[in-house]
Amino acid sequence: MFGSVTPSALAGAAPMTSTRPARVGHVVATERRPATPHQFQFWTATTTPVGIGAIVRVDAEAAGVPPRTVYGVVTDGSAYTRETSEGVIPGADSPGPAREVWIWTAAVLRQEPAEPLQPVPIGPVFVADDADVMRALRMEAYVGGARPSGIPIGLYTAGGLEAPVCVDAEFLLGPEAAHLNISGVSGLATKTSAVEFVLASVFQHFPAHKGRVAAVCFNVKGPDLCFLDRAGPLDDADRRRYARLGVTPEPFARVRYYAPFKADGVNLNTLRTHPDLVGAVAPLVWGLAEVLAFAEVLLNRDDIDAKADAFIDFLADRVVGQQFDDGFGRVHRVQTFADLEALFRSIFDGVEASSRADVWRTHHIATIRKVRNRLSNVSTRCKGLVTDDGPSSDLPWGAFEDRTVYVIDLANVDPLGQDLVFARVVSELREHLERRDLGVDAVVVFADELNKYAPADEPESYVTKMLLDISERGRYLGLVLFGAEQFRSQVHRRVSGNAATTLFGRMDYDELATPGYQVLSPATKVKLATLPVGELMVRHPHFTHPVFVQFPRPAVLRGRDGVERFPPAPDLAFEDAVVRQLVRLDRGIRPNHVKDLIADRAPDDVRRALGAARRAGASDPLAVFSRELGRRVVREAGRPRIDPVPPLAPISDEPY
Ligand SMILES: Nc1ncnc2c1ncn2[C@@H]1O[C@H](COP(=O)(O)OP(=O)(O)OP(=O)(O)O)[C@@H](O)[C@H]1O
Ligand SMILES: [Mg+2]
Repeated sequence: MFGSVTPSALAGAAPMTSTRPARVGHVVATERRPATPHQFQFWTATTTPVGIGAIVRVDAEAAGVPPRTVYGVVTDGSAYTRETSEGVIPGADSPGPAREVWIWTAAVLRQEPAEPLQPVPIGPVFVADDADVMRALRMEAYVGGARPSGIPIGLYTAGGLEAPVCVDAEFLLGPEAAHLNISGVSGLATKTSAVEFVLASVFQHFPAHKGRVAAVCFNVKGPDLCFLDRAGPLDDADRRRYARLGVTPEPFARVRYYAPFKADGVNLNTLRTHPDLVGAVAPLVWGLAEVLAFAEVLLNRDDIDAKADAFIDFLADRVVGQQFDDGFGRVHRVQTFADLEALFRSIFDGVEASSRADVWRTHHIATIRKVRNRLSNVSTRCKGLVTDDGPSSDLPWGAFEDRTVYVIDLANVDPLGQDLVFARVVSELREHLERRDLGVDAVVVFADELNKYAPADEPESYVTKMLLDISERGRYLGLVLFGAEQFRSQVHRRVSGNAATTLFGRMDYDELATPGYQVLSPATKVKLATLPVGELMVRHPHFTHPVFVQFPRPAVLRGRDGVERFPPAPDLAFEDAVVRQLVRLDRGIRPNHVKDLIADRAPDDVRRALGAARRAGASDPLAVFSRELGRRVVREAGRPRIDPVPPLAPISDEPY
């Protein structure tokens, strides 16, 4: 099924007839408006199928010189009456009415032969057919051949003709170039839908010689990406387009969902909680070790400085996961936020009791307080994602599967938590791809609302820097960014600029007035501002000029329809949620047994036991769960409980 696109496959169910499309006009050039090597004008009848964005072919044959073919895309048009025309119209045998003349401007896409590069000859003009579109966009170089790398992206449609348009995987997914960016107004630009379709096309046409591919999608808007494994409604026109593009219209076969918990630590924070679907959602929970490695993400939003950085490095290098003597007679083994809090308390008590009241191991006590506040702040604001205590539950680093989509649902997570997840997931992907041990050879990372993560006008945050890094170097690693945003001008220029393939849906006039769109003709801008849903303008390194394509609806259930068909379940009571988590790990577990076990136990202890069971995975999670619960009870009975963590001091402005 995942064959490569070949020129014959591209011809699809309705092979082109052998007759070439009829001539529609003729090149016209005057002294004032000459034909050049990059642009020409041609006239047509007023009944022509030609319009803005149409691809045309000019044939020139003259005695004694090799025939020449020029391909162009129409970028502008004008009309006038013959009486006021500026000269004689060549080819007076035109089919058009006598008085009105339409003149089109076309930008040259390709000349054959390419050398010597000459002005466009004064020849007859034809609308392009499949073969012409293939040559005009230089697709023959990568569609077909020994190592085909075409990824169908949409149908070029004009004048009753339609032809598949493919982009080159080497330039979409690396290493020659990479990344895709899509922009356009909300609701009409079909950004999310287009990315879903392109992703399906990538999965089905990823060239065999490039190995295995997976996608990591951050769901940041409601239920947008929560139903990628469910089929959505398609009409006959969509199905015909799929057939023509050589893409099978089916939802993604392998999708793994990850969502953090809500603040209660047991109910999942996602809209995919319908009983039939929630089983496929795995919790995303991180502990101290995971968070500390990315503390910079959390801290650079405010006034963190070199001293605090140094203290965080000290914690990461010397304290976490090791035996650590605090110098006041206590040995710590810090593995969780709760352990770290115990260390902080011991330091503060020890320093207060000692004569040197302001320094501990070269770190100023105010710096320590500040770092403690920031870290505690994370576990408070991102409760459910970050656990105070207990082990983590994470993506399957090292065991990514081919053609699998990993959806991380962050739609209801605090922005700080979103940044943390984004930074950590992308960094892990990068590290594993560098070491070639991720499980796949290439990963597409889909970030909607890119303007939030890599904004144009704000100081560069850690996340922006990371996105810049992927944009500039990811192509060598197989780390590919598919970004979407309403306004391209609001995204960091080097992030959007490094996307080799750019799609534009319906655009806003204000946005079109920004400098980034100066290269487009006024008529192209008008077309962009009135583009119907399902149509996009595509820029790609092989295409000399952008072209317009139509794409079919993605074959997956839209988020909005998904929540109607699979309404999210109300939050479960604590004990039921615990049962569900355990049954997810082992279907044989009896709910009442679990409920008996947790009756009268402190929720924190239950959550901790649940974490341990999760980490144990398939190896008898219930045994691990009850053992962990039991151990805590004995310990509670045996010695006094450590005081709970006191409320946090508000973030201060102290200059340390
Ligand atoms: N190829 C298509 N043909 C026709 N309609 C489509 C097509 N693709 C998507 N649509 C419809 O267009 C609407 C908007 O799509 P989508 O949600 O993808 O837009 P968006 O640009 O991501 O919007 P937002 O900015 O709000 O996230 C949806 O209702 C969808 O069903
Ligand atoms: Mg969207």
